[in-house]
Amino acid sequence: MKAIFITLEGPDGSGKTSTINLLQEKMMQAGLDFIKTREPGGSPISEKVREVVLGIGNEIMDPKTEALLIAGARRQHVVETIRPALLNGQIVLCDRFIDSSLAYQGAGREIGIEAVLDINLFAVEETIPDVTYYLDVPAAVGLERIAANQKREVNRLDKENITFHQKVVQGYKQIIKMFPERFVCIQATRSPNEIADIILEDILKRIKD
Ligand code: TYD
Repeated sequence: MKAIFITLEGPDGSGKTSTINLLQEKMMQAGLDFIKTREPGGSPISEKVREVVLGIGNEIMDPKTEALLIAGARRQHVVETIRPALLNGQIVLCDRFIDSSLAYQGAGREIGIEAVLDINLFAVEETIPDVTYYLDVPAAVGLERIAANQKREVNRLDKENITFHQKVVQGYKQIIKMFPERFVCIQATRSPNEIADIILEDILKRIKD
């Protein structure tokens, strides 16, 4: 079995959380040795940064500050959590990673995808995902789903308007074109259970090769 680094990406309301929870169960049932982690966060220091970045009330945060804080949290997450797990032979399943910064900060906040890529490559060095599953959903559908899901915790970025979310979705499309060999795109109109099955099947193929 190969220790691979897997990330899940998608705009808000793409059903990513339900999908990753189901995928986690299925990976456990399949007997895979893995850790599940998330961003921003994934290590004690990085979770503290998450509170600052996503906290309601920090609306005056400058876009570059936001990008740098997230990249800093990512660095710590890579060093403290992701690399040790991979070295230990475990699969790493991560809810959002570098591409979220390219889409949200690069495209959404209009800092520029290339500029955000630069600071993130400084942060992660060679720790780039082996495969990234992208849950493809139009921005408007994603926002409708967030509005319909009352129980969901609302964060500072969910409160952004439809234009921001459209920019994020456009950003993802550009990033997929930049790294076509790494991305697997899945239509998020399928149920989270079906999506989790598709992802598990793909993971099993990859770790066997
Ligand atoms: P979260 O509650 O985990 O939402 P989701 O279920 O959509 O993943 O909040 C993460 C939020 O942080 C989400 O709105 C995207 C944003 N984010 C960035 O803007 N840049 C990043 O690099 C990351 C990892 C997340």
